[in-house]
Amino acid sequence: MIVGIPSETFPSERRVAVVPSVIQSLKKAQLEVLIQAGAGEAAGFRDTTYIESGARITESRAEIFSSADVILQVRTFGANVEVGRVDLELMRPKQIVIGLSEPLSEPKAALELAECGITACSLELMPRITRAQSMDVLSSMSSLAGYKSAIMAANTLEKYFPMMMTAAGTYAPAKGLVLGAGVAGLQAIATCKRLGAVMQAFDVRPVVKEQVESVGATFVGLTEEENMEDTGGYAKEMTEESQNKERDLIQYYAKDADFVITTALIPGRPAPKLITKEMIQAMKPGSVIIDMAAESGGNCVLTKPGEKVMENGVTILGPLNLPSTMPIHASQMYSKNVVNLLEHIMNDGELVLDLNDVITSGCCITHKGELVS
Ligand code: NAI
Repeated sequence: MIVGIPSETFPSERRVAVVPSVIQSLKKAQLEVLIQAGAGEAAGFRDTTYIESGARITESRAEIFSSADVILQVRTFGANVEVGRVDLELMRPKQIVIGLSEPLSEPKAALELAECGITACSLELMPRITRAQSMDVLSSMSSLAGYKSAIMAANTLEKYFPMMMTAAGTYAPAKGLVLGAGVAGLQAIATCKRLGAVMQAFDVRPVVKEQVESVGATFVGLTEEENMEDTGGYAKEMTEESQNKERDLIQYYAKDADFVITTALIPGRPAPKLITKEMIQAMKPGSVIIDMAAESGGNCVLTKPGEKVMENGVTILGPLNLPSTMPIHASQMYSKNVVNLLEHIMNDGELVLDLNDVITSGCCITHKGELVS
């Protein structure tokens, strides 16, 4: 069986789905690896290294799609609907396509894949269960992005993060507030803490209190009675009353913060608006907001995706695709997750899609011409 890796075509995407160091694992699983020339270049992996690791290189994107049984991409059609549309013409019925595909925001793309007879596995839908952790691309990418958001906050803030005792006086550490303490939020807290900031964190799921404290922040969230966790472990949408209560709490803490990193997410829904214009008016001049939820509308009302906004002396950044700014580790982690998934769905060199298996059925969105998720 052949695994094909076309180069990524989404504008400014620098990651690659497979790095040279995992090619031996694919070969052990009896898979041949065919990769488009230059596919790893933007992530720092040269064609020569792929060849030395046992992959075959082709200049032709069409050859990848015509000969591979499985296509591995970072952004498949759904996550690259404009530029990626040309790939639809190249795909073959029964081909398996694995990657990110934004199935909740681009359901039409999934329908098109079903109509082409493609079996599509959408990595965003990987269940967040212990058994699937080694295949959980979203967690890998969110962890990288959480780290990077902390570095951005430190770089944008016009003062020290750590406490400084100098001959010119003693300076208090920066105060940071993280809204949403999931994967990205916890990594942001841990990174800010390592840089010396004093951290507070808020989440609507009181169950994360212990995790927040374990990475060195004070939890300022809701109580057990106000728990907003659904049965899948994610947050559910809040009532108007609890939203108002939450905003009061955030306003209280945000006015003293030097920087706020927001990561609040409800899967498949627009990002909850947590930071209002009024809160920004009350924040200190020179303070910084890094809105990681920019892609899904932003947690701050003034966020402009991919841009920098200045309001009342406060800088608001809405960065997009942070994992792609760290393409080496992002590609290594992505590859590892994807190879683990392939090993999970393979048996004796053959792909066996067991739709009764919670991991396979969790991420398989189209199969045999139908939407199955
Ligand atoms: P996650 O699901 O692990 O964490 C989200 C957290 O937000 C959960 O703990 C949830 O309880 C909390 N939350 C939901 N509603 C809330 C509310 N009203 N108030 C406070 N907390 C609330 O998600 P993950 O993987 O950590 O991703 C977080 C965000 O970062 C997402 O919006 C994701 O799209 C974004 N992201 C952005 C990237 C970028 O490049 N800009 C890269 C990766 C992730």
